[in-house]
Amino acid sequence: MKKTILGFQPGIANLQVADFETPPLGANDVLIKIQAVSFNYRDLEIINGIYSEAFQPGLVPFSDGAGEVIEVGEGVSLLQPGDRVVTSFWQSWASGELKYARSPKALGGHRDGVLSDYTVLDESGLVKIPDEISLAEAATFPCAGVTAWQALVVKGQIKAGEWVLIQGTGGVSTFALQIAKMHGARTILLSSSDKKRASMEKMGADHTINYIDCPDWETAVRDFTNGIGVDHVVETGGPSTFEKSLKSIRMGGQVYVIGYKGGKGGDINPLLILANQAEVKAIGVGPTSSLTQILNAYQALRQPPVVDKIYDWGDFAEALEYFSTGEHIGKVVIEKR
Ligand SMILES: NC(=O)c1ccc[n+]([C@@H]2O[C@H](COP(=O)([O-])OP(=O)(O)OC[C@H]3O[C@@H](n4cnc5c(N)ncnc54)[C@H](OP(=O)(O)O)[C@@H]3O)[C@@H](O)[C@H]2O)c1
Repeated sequence: MKKTILGFQPGIANLQVADFETPPLGANDVLIKIQAVSFNYRDLEIINGIYSEAFQPGLVPFSDGAGEVIEVGEGVSLLQPGDRVVTSFWQSWASGELKYARSPKALGGHRDGVLSDYTVLDESGLVKIPDEISLAEAATFPCAGVTAWQALVVKGQIKAGEWVLIQGTGGVSTFALQIAKMHGARTILLSSSDKKRASMEKMGADHTINYIDCPDWETAVRDFTNGIGVDHVVETGGPSTFEKSLKSIRMGGQVYVIGYKGGKGGDINPLLILANQAEVKAIGVGPTSSLTQILNAYQALRQPPVVDKIYDWGDFAEALEYFSTGEHIGKVVIEKR
């Protein structure tokens, strides 16, 4: 069996393929044949050695995988061979607040991830995939989907008619758009590309703004909301967008701090938080219960996630190069076909 591991030097070209034997299963372990993996910006950062934490050579990268159960340990009660499952980003964060989780470990970082023919995980860190959702689609949910769900639904308690500001057109942002629309909310979406803006309008974005052509987009956001401001901001820009996000919200609006596509430094003026009584909430993906919830919602509504391209598993390097260009809308997946 083969697994892909971080090499001694960072970079896609330095990833290595290694042989391995699956370890004997513990009582609660499940052996999974991985058949689809989706990419997240974090995976790229880890491979390129620019993530906020450094990981050792030999780590199997990537957090989001879907596949088939091959064998289960004697204590496993909810899964059986043949079941289709998807991996939860955080292993051992079942539900509730992260502070109550038992030694949570993120796949493809604190412990081996899923870019591997097979993997062994505790059954509590796996979710059964509803019948209507394909393996490639299921692999898109664990990080980006759960993050958007955790922000808008779990922390934000989003309601019909509310306004949501979404930044970008990648994985988190397309999930945020779909989740906002399925809750009857109204959306304003920022993108650097007019072509991507047109696609997002087709997907239901009520208003879109090109944040390159319109650098003072916070003014446009307030205009779209009759001067009131938005109820929620899905903040994926970081330093380049955070101040404008605070200027875009209504009094008491919520800003979910998620990404840093616009850099990792910057200054924050706390008076901006005070002035608008902003509720600033950090999001660190979410627990396995949120993965179950979002899968159930997408199944019930027959709503497919936004998948830009599905590559053959063997074309992994090409797929990752494409993902790193940022040309995609939604998710990029590799699948064994
Ligand atoms: N905290 C968490 O739990 C968590 C979870 C998942 C992801 N993240 C973070 O969230 C961010 C997005 O992740 P992703 O997986 O969705 O990435 P992705 O698929 O690579 O998409 C990133 C998108 O960000 C947009 N963008 C780039 N620079 C921007 C800027 N200066 N201002 C506004 N938007 C900008 C781009 O949109 P356009 O091409 O349309 O301009 C791009 O499509 C990353 O920083 C990632 O690390 C955090």
